[in-house]
Amino acid sequence: MSTAKKTISDIKNAKGAAQPLVCLTAYTDPLATLLDPHCDLILVGDSLGMVLYGLPSTENVTLDMMIAHGKAVTCKPRQAVIIVDMPCGSYEAHKELALRNARRIMDTTGCDGVKLEGGKNMAATIAHLVENNIPVMGHIGLMPQSANKEGGYMVKGKTDEEIKRLLEDAKAIEDAGAFSFVIEATIEDVARTITQSVSIPTIGIGASAACDGQVLVTEDMLGMLTGHTPKFVKKYADLAEEISCAVESYANEVRSRKFPSGEYLYGMKK
Ligand code: KIV
Repeated sequence: MSTAKKTISDIKNAKGAAQPLVCLTAYTDPLATLLDPHCDLILVGDSLGMVLYGLPSTENVTLDMMIAHGKAVTCKPRQAVIIVDMPCGSYEAHKELALRNARRIMDTTGCDGVKLEGGKNMAATIAHLVENNIPVMGHIGLMPQSANKEGGYMVKGKTDEEIKRLLEDAKAIEDAGAFSFVIEATIEDVARTITQSVSIPTIGIGASAACDGQVLVTEDMLGMLTGHTPKFVKKYADLAEEISCAVESYANEVRSRKFPSGEYLYGMKK
């Protein structure tokens, strides 16, 4: 644990380090404050669409939503590197649109960099952002923004054709100047081969310990969410159960007038 502000260079230099990089998602100030001392990177992920807004996918997350939550996370100085996701529709059409929106995210939130999904198809866009001093984190493997269009949330790297494409995507992102990239839901051997074939850190989610770092959605690993949990999520707490018990106790005490008792009341000046 250190309090000195981490930089994009620190993240790049962690390639192949003995200790993997630690990354978690945060969308709010209180959670970012709790995560910050323990993380190298905090990602304001577009997973917030599903986690906070109850949307069925990340496809309808807007730039305004990302900026609002980016601001909430950057409202205090953080030692971790803060990355904000570029939402679906904000960068794919052409590189000038991507630059305009990436600049808006960087300028309004003061974050350290942006993340976008895609491989070879996004290389020219990534290069354009990097040439304009915007640090970019890539994202390959399962890409939630396009998963529905591609037939569903499927594990990647199962066929020779997929492996070839993943390796080409990884190389293209590296050559474009990304400082790091996420590999999502990808077979261990393939994630290892990708990690060994690039000079920038890979951050795995459902892609094994062969990656240079790990990321999870914080609400998943804290057991805060009800419903389907992906196979790659380890729950480090069961906050859904704890919250439910606490709220039940509060409701019972309010209904029986046990709360608020004397210690929670304001008194007259003595
Ligand atoms: O949106 C997100 O939270 C992400 C991570 C899960 C990698 O992209």
